[in-house]
Amino acid sequence: MYKKYDFPDKFDIVVTCASGVEKVVKSELKRLDYGEVPAVNGALTFLGDKNAVARCNINLRTGDRVYIKLAEFPATTFDELFAGVLDVSWASYLPADAKILVNGKSVKSKLFALSACQSIVKKAIIEKMGAQYRVNGFYEQGSTYQIEFWIFKDQVTLLLNTSGAGLHKRGYRDLVWIAPIKETLASSLLLLSDFYWQRPFHDPFCGSGTIPIEAARIALNIAGGIGRKFDFCEWENFGQDAYNLAFTEAKDNEKRDRKVEIFGTDIDAKAIKLAKRHAIQAGVGDKIKFSVCDVKNFRPTLPCGTIVTNPPYGERVYDREEAEACYKNLGKALKDSIDWSLFLITPAKNFEKLYGKRADRERKLYNSNKECKYYYYYGKKGDKND
Ligand SMILES: C[S@@+](CC[C@H](N)C(=O)[O-])C[C@H]1O[C@@H](n2cnc3c(N)ncnc32)[C@H](O)[C@@H]1O
Repeated sequence: MYKKYDFPDKFDIVVTCASGVEKVVKSELKRLDYGEVPAVNGALTFLGDKNAVARCNINLRTGDRVYIKLAEFPATTFDELFAGVLDVSWASYLPADAKILVNGKSVKSKLFALSACQSIVKKAIIEKMGAQYRVNGFYEQGSTYQIEFWIFKDQVTLLLNTSGAGLHKRGYRDLVWIAPIKETLASSLLLLSDFYWQRPFHDPFCGSGTIPIEAARIALNIAGGIGRKFDFCEWENFGQDAYNLAFTEAKDNEKRDRKVEIFGTDIDAKAIKLAKRHAIQAGVGDKIKFSVCDVKNFRPTLPCGTIVTNPPYGERVYDREEAEACYKNLGKALKDSIDWSLFLITPAKNFEKLYGKRADRERKLYNSNKECKYYYYYGKKGDKND
């Protein structure tokens, strides 16, 4: 019989995010009552418990993954790496039948051979667990525990991934479209914009529907990760209770009866079909009006609102001229709609020239590792009353 180890009550929780969106994750954490969480190199760290892990995984729209930090130590040799890993009380986190996966990255460090580091980390974990559980071999037939090591400037951080697959995998998008935007980036763009639930919304290049779907879920307060499971849900030493509590809380907070004006259009009928399917799967099928429309025929019908969009970039599928024509046509479409705000992400350096107007603000963001600018054009301010 194995000795039973208890999961610690409190630990450091690390939420990772894409570069440039730390501010949005920070305000999401604040809304979840975790205070002013500092962000360092795309990671936000705060002291929390199992409930915080569950609440972050279920609620966050813009974070990439939620981790538990296990240790931090300096290492420039394999021996130091082994000793640092051995120092962790692994049996407090992992049960004896844990299926252990190890992954990592190294930046500006002497230890850079990732597969060698991976083997050393795993070997040290097994050695420590063997000593703690008093066994010689492990069969790894239980739940999955993904351990990550990050080595930055010879400083090792060991983490336990509680999310499993990245939080952008909400579960509603099952069919692939051309250059879809990640759900987490779509939400970040929306949360950086002036969109709020009473304000009409339109995405004139909606593709498979990601931005309008995320807009509808924000408007109705449907939690980002409500439709999926996370690695921690399978951990018997962590407990289903934390998940159940966070799930019930998120469900209670939903405002599904809100009346919203959300539109998505695209030139391609196949995209619109897909967008409708994804919206139904996301639980917002009846909240978004999708239709086929070439941007050159697009004119907002309501007096004011917000556009957040990810147009063709003219790099892979669409050629440069097609993308540039889209930017010019969007400029024409919005020329007489000065009360509409536009928020648009593109790597095109000449976007403002083609669109025909200087942006009020811009921000550097990355879309699938591609450096882009997020252009802000403010329209009429509305009355936000909640
Ligand atoms: C980068 S993709 C948008 C992907 C979308 N954000 C998603 O997550 O699926 C650009 C979209 O612009 C659409 N498009 C290209 N030319 C267009 C035009 N002239 N008018 C409207 N949509 C157009 C394409 O069909 C494509 O779906």
